[in-house]
Amino acid sequence: MSMLAFTPFQLRNVTLKNRFLLAPMATQYVEKGGIIGDSLIDYYIHMALTGVAAVIVEAAAIATEGRGWSRQLSAASPNDLPGLSHIAEAIRERGSIPLLQIHHAGRQGLPADASGYVVGPSGIPCPVLGRPVRVLNPKDIKTLVTKFTDAARIAERAGFAGIELHGAHGYLLHQFVSPLTNKRDDEYGLKNPNPYRFPLEVVKSIRMAVPDMILAYRLSARDYLPRGLTLEHSVPLAIALADAGVDMLHVSGGMYASLHGPESIVGPSTPSGVFRSDAHDIRQAVRVPVAVVGKIQTPALAEEILQNSDAHLIALGRILLRDPLWIQKAQGQSDVPVRPCLLCSRCRYHLKGCPDDQQKPIWVK
Ligand SMILES: Cc1cc2nc3c(=O)[nH]c(=O)nc-3n(C[C@H](O)[C@H](O)[C@H](O)COP(=O)(O)O)c2cc1C
Ligand code: SF4
Repeated sequence: MSMLAFTPFQLRNVTLKNRFLLAPMATQYVEKGGIIGDSLIDYYIHMALTGVAAVIVEAAAIATEGRGWSRQLSAASPNDLPGLSHIAEAIRERGSIPLLQIHHAGRQGLPADASGYVVGPSGIPCPVLGRPVRVLNPKDIKTLVTKFTDAARIAERAGFAGIELHGAHGYLLHQFVSPLTNKRDDEYGLKNPNPYRFPLEVVKSIRMAVPDMILAYRLSARDYLPRGLTLEHSVPLAIALADAGVDMLHVSGGMYASLHGPESIVGPSTPSGVFRSDAHDIRQAVRVPVAVVGKIQTPALAEEILQNSDAHLIALGRILLRDPLWIQKAQGQSDVPVRPCLLCSRCRYHLKGCPDDQQKPIWVK
């Protein structure tokens, strides 16, 4: 049977060889001093060789003070160019399209100094991390628009075909669009005729700076929290993002605080393909391609999502760590069944291999 999953797809100026993307996954392999060593490069070679049409490289910080974790990739400075170029080249050479996710953690970040403060749209700490929040003023926000744009330029110079803005999972861009985290009453508040000003300013600025690059935007369609973001907000946001020049919307869900809902790294008790119906609703509302992620672990489910027009593209995360032959198996090149992911969350903190693996993955040095 021919599968829609193995038909090519045109994304802006690039032809994707199939409908599969590697979901961005923070590896924690960046070495001290921001050095990109063999482990990180080997990991991306390995993931490109799985056969995905595009690799979305893990969240890279647009500013040192916006980091979400200590060994995070960076796209904040021209000093990051050599390492990023190495990653982009390693992916291209293995026949996949390199995209870089860029990110500011906002209130879910690491404090930049001994004060312990992080930044955000309003002074509401993340209930999980509890770090005090300094409210960004309009001048700070303009500076961040510039930093996002500079990071996109760095990605372009490094040879990436595109970038993905991390607007999901409770990080800074998400914080500006969620009613739980944005209580502002200025021009960046949600009560304005243009409630999504900050992400739209970022998108427009990047679109002008790098007109030839793919510009994707990952969003959480819902917060899964009382009085939080729902499709009532995320559908108009998606429409506005597409109008502002985004080439692809990548639908996910949740934030750190959504511990009792289908949080972003979908747990065992949450149904497979949990975000597909939100992707479907967003797809109906916009003209740009939509990708969906979230516990899509069998080829049959991926194909069903595509056939049902829930999304144009499927992002695969943990299942490709678990079974690098997944795409070949989906294509019928092997009769060995797919190796199910245990959904144990061990990889969430460091990619050291699955608990029942006899050998370490090739990228663990
Ligand atoms: C180890 C790990 C690191 C992750 N890092 C990121 C990240 O850097 N950026 C991001 O948007 N999502 C990140 N995620 C979330 C994944 O991209 C994906 O949305 C999630 O794992 C659900 O997809 P899956 O069920 O296919 O794994 C991470 C997930 C894992 C397991
Ligand atoms: S470490 Fe656990 S959750 Fe991660 S890929 Fe392996 S089995 Fe799946």
